[in-house]
Amino acid sequence: PPPPCRAGATHPPAPAPRIGMILGSGLGAFAERLSAPGLCELPFADIPGFPASAVGGHRGRLVVGHLGGEAGPAVACLDGRAHVYEGHGADQVVLPTRMLALLGVKILVITNAAGGVSPDLGPGDLMLIEDHINFSGYNPLRGPNDDELGPRFPDMTSAYDPDLRTLAREVAADCGLPLQGGVYAVLGGPSYETPAEVRAMRSLGADAVGMSTVFETTAAVHAGMRVLGFSLITNQAAGLGAGHLSHEEVLDTAAQARDRLVAFLERLVAALHLGS
Ligand code: HPA
Repeated sequence: PPPPCRAGATHPPAPAPRIGMILGSGLGAFAERLSAPGLCELPFADIPGFPASAVGGHRGRLVVGHLGGEAGPAVACLDGRAHVYEGHGADQVVLPTRMLALLGVKILVITNAAGGVSPDLGPGDLMLIEDHINFSGYNPLRGPNDDELGPRFPDMTSAYDPDLRTLAREVAADCGLPLQGGVYAVLGGPSYETPAEVRAMRSLGADAVGMSTVFETTAAVHAGMRVLGFSLITNQAAGLGAGHLSHEEVLDTAAQARDRLVAFLERLVAALHLGS
């Protein structure tokens, strides 16, 4: 059952969400679009066992509500996430993802901010994640397997659901939003990559690089959820642009793209609700 809500909404009960979202840097505005009945908002700090996230641009709350009014789909949003670079184990990082699975979420939309490794991806572009490469050395499934959650050796051949990717491309085209597909590579962070690392990742097939998402995707696939992933490219990866990298630049670009992306995500969730 959904957790009890502190923010006054015990009646009517929180809706049972089939669609979940993990909102990366600067995308928390999507959660504001959710509404009653049963709107539920819980700070992560109030959920036992949840890893705390202290990164700028991440609010750290669970919001469950309806998108587009009472008749719209129920959605559970994780507004913010924990990262391995904050010192959490990869298994702790995915606890919120597993909670979504236990709440009944079947489709998980994961977003992040990332550096563009492909020369075709620049600040403000949105990349549809087609596959990933885990360069971090961490895997959330390491350790004893809980067979009730999922199999010991989950298949990752279609980690980012091909049918949902097709749907996402259609919605983006309808919105007039350019959407390139690509491969997301994850490193542990928190330092940004060196130019040599970026060149190495490019030659190994990466189009974008970041410090998240792969852990949640792995846990979601393990738990049988269908995953869609999007990277907002906030900067060219190290050595590809003229200047230096900063978290402020990442947040500025995310803020500029916010309204466009929130509008796209709203249309996407409506289409996921109808089409799956
Ligand atoms: N590298 C890693 N993570 C990031 C970047 C980057 O260039 N930009 C935003 N998140």
